Amino acid sequence: MTLDLPERSEVLRQRIADEIRADGPVSFARFMERALYEPGLGYYMSQRPVTSRRGDFLTAPETHPAFGALLAEGAREYADVLNVPEFTVLEQGSGSGALARSFIKRWSETTQRSLRYVMVDFHTSGIPAPPGVTIITASSLDEVDPFEGLFLSNELPDAFPVHRVRRRGAAIVEVYVGLHDGDFIEIEGQPSSPELEEWLDAAGIVLADGAEIEVNLQVEPWMRRIWELLARGRVITIDYGFESDRVSRFPRGTLLAHYRHTTNEDYLQRVGEQDLTAHVCWTALEEIARRTGLRIVERVTQREYLSRLGWKEWGMRLLRTPFVTEAELESFDRLGSLAEGMGGNGVLVLDK
Ligand SMILES: C[S@@+](CC[C@H](N)C(=O)[O-])C[C@H]1O[C@@H](n2cnc3c(N)ncnc32)[C@H](O)[C@@H]1O
Repeated sequence: MTLDLPERSEVLRQRIADEIRADGPVSFARFMERALYEPGLGYYMSQRPVTSRRGDFLTAPETHPAFGALLAEGAREYADVLNVPEFTVLEQGSGSGALARSFIKRWSETTQRSLRYVMVDFHTSGIPAPPGVTIITASSLDEVDPFEGLFLSNELPDAFPVHRVRRRGAAIVEVYVGLHDGDFIEIEGQPSSPELEEWLDAAGIVLADGAEIEVNLQVEPWMRRIWELLARGRVITIDYGFESDRVSRFPRGTLLAHYRHTTNEDYLQRVGEQDLTAHVCWTALEEIARRTGLRIVERVTQREYLSRLGWKEWGMRLLRTPFVTEAELESFDRLGSLAEGMGGNGVLVLDK
């Protein structure tokens, strides 16, 4: 029997409530893990297209194919430098396949170099492979063998479950999810692990009294796994984030829920029906990359990164295209727009 969305949400809500009744309040990270990734029920575990014009939000590759095409330009140049017999691109969190599609199209139009493109996500639907390109789909990094090439992700670590911490006077407390009259509520308690404060220290995050921030403990094991998988090559992580010295801009933290193209802060509602996401802390990511043994090449804005790869020239060509629509120009502009678009997102480039 297939359950519709509100029914699935209710089943998931009951399961989390049962866990709280049995074991007491759960960390927000545990709540978020189940809300997003509970097999068959979590937000990212349904077959519904969540990143599409009909879904809850649009990502850069969904916005305009120039995003994937420009990344392919950069990857092609990098492949010439790395010059390995079999250049592999592994895209983790490949979602609807929009990035893979535009990347592979551009690659096959502009180079004879063969390409292995590995799409990793919980549900991946294959896409047709042009000559010279092999497409592999996997549901987890555990199914992938070590490779030489490029490890790519767009908006991935922002979807990892996060702990939420607050400063209360001299102390750091953690936000847990408990139950009151059958409803989920937030409860403050002692941090569930000393790792939370260690992470804040390593990232250089100093919270003002009463302020909250998220702690993403999954970044470190993720980077270690990348290091193991990438025999030689580059890691490009594109996401929205903040530097630790800017944390005061987010006194309530950076967590947001996305539901049908609007954002909200009702994190405990619509369980499994809405996305939950937190900005990545670039300072923490860089510190963890260093510890893991990855070399930091650079971190720039998405606007700068795409501009170097020909974003502005693409725009000029688009303007000269007969019958180009206002809607397409707007979508293209969002990729590099600092005002309302994705241009301010960060691109972290690491080498091994
Ligand atoms: C915000 S979406 C971004 C999708 C796509 N990269 C894009 O830009 O349109 C995050 C994606 O990461 C996937 N994801 C989260 N954790 C993952 C993991 N451990 N392995 C593979 N995919 C994961 C989710 O299923 C989801 O498709």
